Amino acid sequence: MKKCLRFSHDVKTELKPWTHLDFGGGDDCDDFNFAVVGDRAGRPAKGVFEEALKKINLMNPDFVMSVGDFIPGGCMEDMSEAFFRSQWDFFENILKDCEPPFFRVPGNHDIVGEDIPEFPEVDKLTERLWKEQFGVTYYSFVFKDVLFLCLNSMEGWHNISKEQLEWALDTLHQNSGVRWTMIFLHDPKTWISENFAVLEKELYFRNYTVFAGDIHQYTRYRRQGRNYYMLGLTGAESQRAGIPAKGVSFGEFQQLAWVSFKNGEPRVSILELEGIHYDDVVTIPKLTWLTPRYFRGDKPITSKEADILEAKGLKIHREIGKYDF
Ligand SMILES: [Fe+2]
Repeated sequence: MKKCLRFSHDVKTELKPWTHLDFGGGDDCDDFNFAVVGDRAGRPAKGVFEEALKKINLMNPDFVMSVGDFIPGGCMEDMSEAFFRSQWDFFENILKDCEPPFFRVPGNHDIVGEDIPEFPEVDKLTERLWKEQFGVTYYSFVFKDVLFLCLNSMEGWHNISKEQLEWALDTLHQNSGVRWTMIFLHDPKTWISENFAVLEKELYFRNYTVFAGDIHQYTRYRRQGRNYYMLGLTGAESQRAGIPAKGVSFGEFQQLAWVSFKNGEPRVSILELEGIHYDDVVTIPKLTWLTPRYFRGDKPITSKEADILEAKGLKIHREIGKYDF
């Protein structure tokens, strides 16, 4: 595993809220890129989150951030521990395909933020399941002099607790010299909570950006003259059950955020998942009479020739040999 010497964190539990720490990029460069995924749940659309991970692997960010709602969570028919566990097993199995480190942040489908009268203790159950797998529900890390605050907005309904607020303020004080502060939490309603207002006051004289999710509709807001992003869908269906997403102009589309730190500042792009194509989007078999003749002159390689070249340590795209000219 390649070790990043410019990464530090405050997680003291043996279990960690990230998948691994095999970062892309190198220590020698200040600039870096990371992807942010939006909600996969309430209702995950089959295979879409999996597709997002494949495209993330293709683009190879240094790491991946998230804003929660990974599993569908309980439904009124079943709030059993076994049901939650089976959903986590399913999701974590998908996540194994994510090549860059993936940093988890809890959503309301992952940790139920309040007691539901019909299902007493479901809030405690879901929090326990999170901690049993990932150690902590909120944490911070510093990557290349940028502070990442990963908050748990499920302490009470769309809120952060007094204790979490104290930790966040203390983390800001201890990292007063960072270039930028990136804040990730699930529920944007937290932005108007009393405790978050205290945090915002502390952030006022720092460079910072906020990412949330939950509503399944991408929107960029500005608060205190800073960018606050509410990410939309990365795998989930639209907010209205059974009604197709309305598209880009309504913020309802399958997406990824791509954040590039350049000269110490984040540049944020929102990528439409369907607009990220593999390089086989057009290949020789798809050529038409309009394709210039010189492309048709490409010479297929036989498998015997490929064997010889591979034996010399060269990388060969064998599939070209299958094309029928
Ligand atoms: Fe949510």
